[in-house]
Amino acid sequence: MGEGLSDGRPTGSASGNEWKTPPLWGIGLTETVNNHRFFLHDGRARGLLEAVLWHGGEAEAAKTRVVEMPAKDRANLIRFLESL
Ligand code: HEM
Repeated sequence: MGEGLSDGRPTGSASGNEWKTPPLWGIGLTETVNNHRFFLHDGRARGLLEAVLWHGGEAEAAKTRVVEMPAKDRANLIRFLESL
């Protein structure tokens, strides 16, 4: 996931910037169920768009597409995530 998300601490065969890709099902219910809106492995992202913007490494291209898409499409993407 790139240097931005690295904690510099390898675990087993995973390097410091490799993370388990989490399922996104139910992510729209995070606040209802967990009473917070923090995302990523250490909770650093204060919302869904911020979580996407932290993507790097193998996910860099996907992040770039989100950054470059029309604002309306980005808003629809976030609405989709919130619907999961
Ligand atoms: C536009 C496409 C994508 C969207 C909307 C998206 C969305 C998200 C969101 C919302 C999270 C936070 C999940 C949570 O905290 O429970 C997340 C985490 C993550 N995503 Fe993506 N993602 C996308 C593309 C990708 C791609 C292409 C990869 C891998 C090549 C990837 C790998 C990961 C990983 C490993 C995490 C966990 C990182 C961590 O906890 O620090 N994602 N993604």
